Amino acid sequence: MDAIQLLKRDHDQFRALLEKLEETSDRAIKARSALFHSLKAELVAHETIEEEILYPTMAEHRSAEDIVAHSYEEHHVIDVLLDELETLSFEDEAWSAKAHVLKENLEHHLEDEEEDLFPKALRLLSAEERADLGDEMEERQDEVLEAAVAHPHARVDKPR
Ligand SMILES: [Fe+2]
Ligand SMILES: [Fe+2]
Repeated sequence: MDAIQLLKRDHDQFRALLEKLEETSDRAIKARSALFHSLKAELVAHETIEEEILYPTMAEHRSAEDIVAHSYEEHHVIDVLLDELETLSFEDEAWSAKAHVLKENLEHHLEDEEEDLFPKALRLLSAEERADLGDEMEERQDEVLEAAVAHPHARVDKPR
């Protein structure tokens, strides 16, 4: 599958999960916890394939260096928020405020990638290259997702 198509498909899934998460109330702990942990697992797997596969490939192109550096930092902020949400109690009134900040940050990041990084990838990488990267990503994503589902409370700790 084309790497950019795969990542874009994940983005749409995140947008839907964020909407659902925001609708959960402070008393709907079970629903909130299930949604949060599935968002967290999917996000960690997505960030990992971008950081291990797409970003290094794009960083080889001068015109993409800045957006790649910017994207790593945005991932970092998202990871910090995920860890803080994991530590807070789901009933805490700060939880929804923090979840809203995560939503704003993540939506902003998805847009940055879709408006800047992905169009550059479509211009700079051939369809064949993108298909190869996509295959590599799918394999790695399954691996990370499995580990994330097995350890739902683990800190988001990606090698940098
Ligand atoms: Fe990203
Ligand atoms: Fe992304």
